[in-house]
Amino acid sequence: MSGRSDQPAPVAPDDQVIARAAVLIRHWTGMTFGENKRYYIERRLVERMAKTGIAAPAAYLDFATYMPGERQELINAFTVNETYFYREIHHLSALSGHMLPSIVRHRVPGDLIRIWSMPCATGEEAYSIAIWLLENWALVDAFNIEIVGSDIDTAALAKARDGHFSQRSLARLPEQIRESYFEIEKGHQRQIIQDLRESVRFTPANLIDPSSVEGLGSFDVILCRNLLIYFDDDARKRAADLLYDRLKLGGYLCLGHSESMKNISDRFEATRLDDAIVYRRP
Ligand SMILES: C[S@@+](CC[C@H](N)C(=O)[O-])C[C@H]1O[C@@H](n2cnc3c(N)ncnc32)[C@H](O)[C@@H]1O
Repeated sequence: MSGRSDQPAPVAPDDQVIARAAVLIRHWTGMTFGENKRYYIERRLVERMAKTGIAAPAAYLDFATYMPGERQELINAFTVNETYFYREIHHLSALSGHMLPSIVRHRVPGDLIRIWSMPCATGEEAYSIAIWLLENWALVDAFNIEIVGSDIDTAALAKARDGHFSQRSLARLPEQIRESYFEIEKGHQRQIIQDLRESVRFTPANLIDPSSVEGLGSFDVILCRNLLIYFDDDARKRAADLLYDRLKLGGYLCLGHSESMKNISDRFEATRLDDAIVYRRP
């Protein structure tokens, strides 16, 4: 469905509809939008109402509730996809310097090592892992490394697969890395080279819905950074259980710098690796 000029303009959602939208988004995604986010919610609802041609806010919410395609569009509109290459680089250093060396101590060359970037947004985090390991881990060719990127936002995943990135997104990468792994495109965007695009698998998943990750198997390392800040404690606990279940025994979990498992889950062991605090499944 898309809006037409002869359709009535969307009616501004009232407080009741705004509150109902916040409840639905929290239920579907875990993200909590408080009263101070009224304008954020309103803008996104009105945008989707215009796109679908549904002028009445309550009718639009009913439509989004019962039509999975529109529910996904609404979720995509609400997500905050802020990310960039080599963000919180201390986790990448700890990955090549400590986590992988510890994991391969119990493996033989050729074994599969699985790394999950969840949420990966538009792909920068997952591709950063691939580039970092190629540049910094001497055993990168000795093992079969699988990197999977997941996110609830299907539009962000499409961008990740396409692999075009802005200068802003690439700003922290050394020039030599930009030259080696990206092709210059029109309009100051650069596309990551095909080899890397083919080396990362992107697939949708919801961090608070175990059924959405059933086919994904288990991972040696999970990066789950800068999402739990948008959750309340209940959603964080559900996410922690899902992450725990997806980690192999002895596997590592990295959270964002302002996130922690304190008061959320006591199932993990917290460990300091140089500048990084990481969590381990015992
Ligand atoms: C701020 S980005 C973080 C990206 C990356 N990890 C980083 O640190 O740069 C947060 C991402 O979480 C995703 N997200 C929100 N709720 C989610 C959920 N329930 N399951 C999976 N991803 C979710 C959003 O779509 C968004 O792309």
